[in-house]
Amino acid sequence: MTPDLSIQLAPRNGRGLLLANPVMTASGTFGYGTEYSQVFDIQRLGAIVCKGTTLAPREGNPQPRLFETTSGLLNSIGWQNIGVKALIKEKAPVWAGWRVPIIVNIGGDTIDDYVRLAKELDGAAGVSGIEVNISCPNVKVGGAAFGVNPDSAAAVTAAVRAATSLPVIVKLTPNTSDIAIVAAAVAEAGADAVSLINTLKGTAIDINKRRPAIGNIICGLSGPAIKPVALAMVYEVAGAVSVPVIGCGGISGAEDALEFIMAGASAVQVGSATFSNPRASLDVLEGIERFTEEEGIQNLSEIIGAGRGDTTG
Ligand SMILES: Cc1cc2nc3c(=O)[nH]c(=O)nc-3n(C[C@H](O)[C@H](O)[C@H](O)COP(=O)(O)O)c2cc1C
Repeated sequence: MTPDLSIQLAPRNGRGLLLANPVMTASGTFGYGTEYSQVFDIQRLGAIVCKGTTLAPREGNPQPRLFETTSGLLNSIGWQNIGVKALIKEKAPVWAGWRVPIIVNIGGDTIDDYVRLAKELDGAAGVSGIEVNISCPNVKVGGAAFGVNPDSAAAVTAAVRAATSLPVIVKLTPNTSDIAIVAAAVAEAGADAVSLINTLKGTAIDINKRRPAIGNIICGLSGPAIKPVALAMVYEVAGAVSVPVIGCGGISGAEDALEFIMAGASAVQVGSATFSNPRASLDVLEGIERFTEEEGIQNLSEIIGAGRGDTTG
């Protein structure tokens, strides 16, 4: 029998957010989905999270904006995007014809920006949910500034919650003293789910030119280097909240994804791995399908949290 890998990511939201399987793409690493529709059957994915979207179009940060490190990637893209109006006009109508749910990742400088974005997206056909990015380390204002503190994180969440009936996922930053406390605060403020982690703060110095190797200096580290950190944070957050947790950070194969699920994640996001293997998310899904079939697992719920030291299962 084919295992049932479906998962409800917004159980306490009237509209719900039902995914056919737990494999999502991470914001900023899969464009608007359209770019990859020629590479593989993207409709097979659980969900696609599109590029970070702001009210007005943005050019992003100065070049260079990507720098490879040992087992990782530094980026300082800085929310380069087409803006929410163009997204609703040009991208959402395409998404409306797709089976795979699309979640729009939003970013702003002020709480009012987030509220206006949520309101704009509320009625848009083709948009199944919102991921609130309060965790970007490489924009000058807004971004991670909201996510480092439980009070400001809760304030953004409550404001977005009040502005839309769409499922709201809040994306958390690892660059804070206790991510579980921030997660509990946003869950309490009305988040339907939390996703983590965004990138860790990092930089690199060009020793010959004696200056930073990347335009924006302080930027975000992603890729395999951050996986154990992300996994520990997902473990902690899954123990602290009752809303679904979406795990992200350094996932490049099915075994990585299964570790996150067994740590307590209900779904996973594949990010930087797509840059070296454009079909990485599909490979992760197919690996999970193989594993569950081979292990005789009939339902995803049997393995969510199954690897936690605090359970006997
Ligand atoms: C080039 C690049 C752009 C990103 N843009 C966004 C973004 O717009 N919004 C967001 O919430 N996260 C963004 N992220 C963070 C990823 O979604 C993800 O949280 C992070 O890279 C960790 O996952 P990974 O190690 O699998 O890449 C970006 C990451 C990269 C590498």
